[in-house]
Amino acid sequence: MTTFVPENLDAHWMPFTANREFRQNPRIITSASGCFYRDQHGREIFDGLSGLWNCGAGHGREEITAAVSQQIATLDYSPAFQFGHPLSFELASRIATLMPDGLEHVFFTCSGSEAVDTALKIARAFWHSQGKASKARLIGRIKGYHGVNFGGISVGGIGPNRYPFGETLQADHLPSTQLEQNRYSRGQPQHGAHTADALLEMISLHGAENIAAVIVEPMAGSGGVIPPPIGYLQRLREICSAHDILLIFDEVITAFGRMGGYSGAEVFGVTPDIMTFAKQISNGSQPLGGVVVQRDIYQHFMYLDTPEYLVELMHGYTYSAHPVACAAALATLDLLQQDLLIERVQNMAPILEDAIHGLRDLPLISDIRNFGLAAGLTLEAAPGEPALRPFQVAMKCWEKGFYVRYGGDTLQLGLPFIVTEQQIHDIVGAIAESLAEIT
Ligand SMILES: Cc1ncc(COP(=O)(O)O)c(C=O)c1O
Repeated sequence: MTTFVPENLDAHWMPFTANREFRQNPRIITSASGCFYRDQHGREIFDGLSGLWNCGAGHGREEITAAVSQQIATLDYSPAFQFGHPLSFELASRIATLMPDGLEHVFFTCSGSEAVDTALKIARAFWHSQGKASKARLIGRIKGYHGVNFGGISVGGIGPNRYPFGETLQADHLPSTQLEQNRYSRGQPQHGAHTADALLEMISLHGAENIAAVIVEPMAGSGGVIPPPIGYLQRLREICSAHDILLIFDEVITAFGRMGGYSGAEVFGVTPDIMTFAKQISNGSQPLGGVVVQRDIYQHFMYLDTPEYLVELMHGYTYSAHPVACAAALATLDLLQQDLLIERVQNMAPILEDAIHGLRDLPLISDIRNFGLAAGLTLEAAPGEPALRPFQVAMKCWEKGFYVRYGGDTLQLGLPFIVTEQQIHDIVGAIAESLAEIT
């Protein structure tokens, strides 16, 4: 057992963490295997969010470890600009075959935030290079989460993630699809397709000639697990196509299994022009993200009227398509296929749905939502402190040996794809017990 001296903890300013609280109650994870972590006291903790939505195949998968070890020994790094290595091309081709028709070209990044900013930049550059530089305004959605870089927080719709950081890019926000009449919906809610029509008002306000792209998560994740109302994404697609506005799906959480398909686009039957991914692509083992674009967008850049030796898109990261991350991703895609993990998500999703909606009548719960192996619970706010109860419940769960994500007024579950029925009942039971223990 490792001993942690509180003074040492101050050296690390932890991300999205209440650092002062953490120092008093350090939750240190020392190892992981399958669906479980082990903490500094040697306790087993069930992983109710698959890491941060990214370890669906379970922790410590030997196939990924072997691929990473072999790759780091063979080619630890090669320059990302102007030179290539075999795995990035193999991975890009594999990803393209798993995406809906037309999404064929992959630009790699190292995270979801970078993928989002890359997607926004591609959208703007696409119009700019056609002499339509005014087509630059971006549209996101209230409660949308698109990472933490300046592009992402501009289109993001979670107030505390934006306003402390001052001026952002020009962006408007569609209304949230989380409607009162949709409370306790199982899967996709019935109501709310009409909220997409707010885009028409933005078009009449700014002119489509000034709007580059609309970006939404097909299912909002960090904003509280909000599945799209039936017909909503289709409506957004229609409006964007009719007005020559690019539609971007931020699939950082939804791609590669969580929804019960390779993408939210596939599962919800709507194909965007640009899609982001990250997280599950490498099963969390290596930082990797990316943007998949439609063939026409890529072709446009390839046919620019510029000399061939000049760069078409002035953008990229030192660690774009890092060879070790690509090896991890290829091994992850193998696992998803060999272990039939997407089918497993489809099979386990109804069990999670039944179990989580079984909490409906408990005090303090005001809404429950689910899709695939994801679920969100909204808690009634403690007077003046909307974020307090989710934090308290999550801490009670941690004490009981369950990691449950809390954020804003919600608790969130993103179960490992390898979860068993019993484990689903255990974690839902732990939430119920924890709820009963707080006021
Ligand atoms: C939809 C979405 N976009 C972007 C991001 C940012 O990803 P990262 O934390 O890898 O930068 C996240 C992270 O949760 C996300 O859920």
